[in-house]
Amino acid sequence: MDNRTFYIRTYGCQMNESDSERISGTLIDNGYSMVATPDEADLVVLNTCSIREGAENKVYSDLGRLRILEAERGTPMQVAVAGCVAQQEGEKILSRDRSVDLVFGSRAIGKLPEMLPRLEAGERFAELNVHTRPDEPGTHVRADGHRAFVTIMEGCDNHCAFCVVPATRGPEVSRRPEGIVAEVEQLAAEGYVEVTLLGQNVTSYGKGLDTDFADLLTRIHAIPGIRRIRYTTSHPKDFSDRLIDTLADCPKVVRHLHLPLQSGSDAVLARMGRGYTVAEYRRKIDRVRAKVPGIAITTDMIVGFPGETDADHQATLRAVREIGYFNLYGFKYSRRPGTTALTLDGHLDDEVRSARLIELLALQKEITLERHASLVGQTREVLVEGESKRNASRLSGRLEENVLVHFEGDPEWIGTVRPVRITEATVSALIGEVH
Ligand code: SAH
Ligand code: SF4
Ligand code: F3S
Repeated sequence: MDNRTFYIRTYGCQMNESDSERISGTLIDNGYSMVATPDEADLVVLNTCSIREGAENKVYSDLGRLRILEAERGTPMQVAVAGCVAQQEGEKILSRDRSVDLVFGSRAIGKLPEMLPRLEAGERFAELNVHTRPDEPGTHVRADGHRAFVTIMEGCDNHCAFCVVPATRGPEVSRRPEGIVAEVEQLAAEGYVEVTLLGQNVTSYGKGLDTDFADLLTRIHAIPGIRRIRYTTSHPKDFSDRLIDTLADCPKVVRHLHLPLQSGSDAVLARMGRGYTVAEYRRKIDRVRAKVPGIAITTDMIVGFPGETDADHQATLRAVREIGYFNLYGFKYSRRPGTTALTLDGHLDDEVRSARLIELLALQKEITLERHASLVGQTREVLVEGESKRNASRLSGRLEENVLVHFEGDPEWIGTVRPVRITEATVSALIGEVH
């Protein structure tokens, strides 16, 4: 079929964003063109997330809105549900919602070219394939011409008691390093200056392949043209001394580490099945700070995990204060289907979970402001990303530490690295000037 249009909406993490870029590229390769609103689309793809209840509910309410939109406009709209809710619910989505035509999992994206003719012929079906090796990258439609996501692995072999990801993304499989290096070389040739290496647990990259994440970083570091290498997410249990030495040896690997702690209480960490204690985590932080001075550390924290006492919560606040994170993502524990945390005693009321989250976020806000204020007066390299979202006469970019900076400048600088003097700090960003 010619001239079909599609619209894609992405929920969830950067891995989903990267998958959406690949879904878009595949659709374009197969004769589709991308449109900016669902209203104009023959095919709407929802690339879904099921990490917390809220994310999942949003998908179902968006499906409801699409049904109304289709009825109002009076022309048929096909709907595909991809991503983690697709993988979790599978065929059930087709029976629960008659407006859904196709359900496909993240490891079935490579099969899209075979699925499309069936979809266009009016077949309703699900394609869920969780056990293949991640395919080579395929065509991506990247949101930005200078910064790119590169998926290095799929899935997760850990069993954190709260988490659906091992069920939705399947077991951990690493891409071969040669394919990753070739993709980054190609990106550099196209003018990309920053890559973010993605995986649920990049620190255990290379299982079954006779390589590891430190080796991969070293190989990518050697690629000319790439100026910044980001990576996410690291797991404290696999964050090794060898990797810390590699971070210290590779200056293009940014001085930013996202290392989810999840709780400041050993009792809670043990019930979560995270595989480390707070003291072990802190020893790794001390070591990385000693070897990579000035490294900015951010984290994820869950409050209100089943059985979390007030003392456990205080231990979390204490850890946050003592470690001095640049920033954190704080979440209220959310019950997820099929997870072992459902069977634990001591599930807490929403009131308690909400109050703990408010307290945690307020504390972090103070610390973030202190961290940002400590940068005032310094002249730092900023990778210019684009025009500022709030004020089009300004540009914005990021420090290595992943902190946003706004400043006056020439739009021609977008995609280059500029020295910027930091003049002002807020919780959300810095203000600076270029001399
Ligand atoms: N693979 C990454 C992150 C996975 S999801 C890691 O291991 O760190 C991102 C974050 O969502 C997690 O770090 C956790 O803080 C949060 N999260 C996951 N499941 C959750 C749940 N059931 N309730 C609340 N937060 C959750
Ligand atoms: Fe989920 Fe834990 Fe795997 Fe992260 S490491 S994706 S939190 S199971
Ligand atoms: Fe969500 Fe799946 Fe990512 S559950 S956070 S989209 S791995």
